[in-house]
Amino acid sequence: MTGTQVIKPRIREILSKELPGELIRLLPKHWVQIGDVLILPLRPELEPYKSRIAEVYAEVIGVKAVLRKGRIGGEFRETNYELLYGNDTVTVHIENGVKYKLDAAKVMFSPANVKERVRMAEVARPGELVVDMFAGIGHLSLPMAVHKGTRVIAIEKSPYTFRFLVENIWLNGVQDLMTPYNMDNRDFPAESIADRILMGYVVTTHKFIPKALSIAKDEAVIHYHNTVPEKLRPEEPFATFKRIAREHGYEAEKLNELVVKRYAPGVWHVVVDVRVYKR
Ligand SMILES: C[S@@+](CC[C@H](N)C(=O)[O-])C[C@H]1O[C@@H](n2cnc3c(N)ncnc32)[C@H](O)[C@@H]1O
Repeated sequence: MTGTQVIKPRIREILSKELPGELIRLLPKHWVQIGDVLILPLRPELEPYKSRIAEVYAEVIGVKAVLRKGRIGGEFRETNYELLYGNDTVTVHIENGVKYKLDAAKVMFSPANVKERVRMAEVARPGELVVDMFAGIGHLSLPMAVHKGTRVIAIEKSPYTFRFLVENIWLNGVQDLMTPYNMDNRDFPAESIADRILMGYVVTTHKFIPKALSIAKDEAVIHYHNTVPEKLRPEEPFATFKRIAREHGYEAEKLNELVVKRYAPGVWHVVVDVRVYKR
């Protein structure tokens, strides 16, 4: 029996004494736990009771804060989650042997991207130089440095997220392998240095392809993420990548393509592994 199966009856038992009967079946059955912070999807019908509900979930599950799930948006992919319980939303989440410190109220950490975080640790090679163009708190590149001893240049534009990236590098003891830069990746000055490039971004990632090519060595692998409507698959998003690469003097070969998660109705977040060669 999993912990969740024990927890749910206990939560229902407590709240059924306090909430109208018809609302009990609307209580969230699934949630996300990041470190000791809970992210709870809450139906609008439960609005009048949200603080008490959050308190009960926090006590039964044993977390220090509860956030109401909302949408992630904007250039920095920030969350706008409502704080329902507690006051401290900075936490350390441990996944696959990697410690991620973050403010769960502000910085995105998608449980759906776990396969990709684990996969990056598998594809990385010791000694290669990886440039993570959208590093966040080190979501994808910390596993590479921690598990494979890969050298990483991690670029993150948001000053708030950057603070956690720096802390995570030290927390995981990879300060000799990872170098963080708090800047827009389009201003990153080095050229032709990367064996591998991470483009962990969505919606407008294609606009950054020319910059990625300038950072890449004459031959490199690029993990290109983007969002794509179902009706444009399977040609997109690789067709656009290939066209832009050609315009910049590179051939592009698709090695692999995976769905990371559903982004919106009819829209997928996918990652394409691309090998690029300078012509
Ligand atoms: C959605 S997070 C992704 C984190 C991680 N790459 C992943 O896929 O799980 C993207 C990060 O890129 C940062 N970012 C957005 N535009 C950027 C830019 N032009 N240069 C550097 N970082 C940028 C955002 O602030 C955000 O922290």
